[in-house]
Amino acid sequence: MELNPAAEKQSHYDNAYAYVSEVFAPYQNVKILRKKSEDAFMLFTDNYFDYVYIDGEHSYDAVTRDLTNYFPKVKVGGYLIGDDYGWEGIAPAVQAFLKLHRNDCIFLDDPYAGRTGGQFAIKKIK
Ligand SMILES: C[S@@+](CC[C@H](N)C(=O)[O-])C[C@H]1O[C@@H](n2cnc3c(N)ncnc32)[C@H](O)[C@@H]1O
Repeated sequence: MELNPAAEKQSHYDNAYAYVSEVFAPYQNVKILRKKSEDAFMLFTDNYFDYVYIDGEHSYDAVTRDLTNYFPKVKVGGYLIGDDYGWEGIAPAVQAFLKLHRNDCIFLDDPYAGRTGGQFAIKKIK
């Protein structure tokens, strides 16, 4: 029998959504949004989040878009954090973002940042 890869992938994410919904069901202060990051950011006012964790599409353009969209949504003193810093596209996007925002954020070094699964963290200072 041939599997339908698209349907299989969708069912994986449907299961993940059901699981996460169940885990967080007791917490009234948790709201799960099933949206693309580029659609979700506009639902929030600026300076809303203490931190935002970025782990969506890993291309240079997508990471640049997520950093750009969510930076204003983070409070001063808050963080943009993300996964897979060593992944092709992610470190260059983060470094280009830091150049543009050299006056309003700082990059926090992580001992694992050079590895594929490494994390990056940017602190908003202005
Ligand atoms: C590397 S996985 C990480 C998933 C999750 N953070 C985890 O650790 O299990 C990236 C996920 O981002 C999703 N994704 C891709 N583009 C996205 C976008 N524009 N907005 C939101 N999620 C996206 C993918 O479908 C995939 O589930």
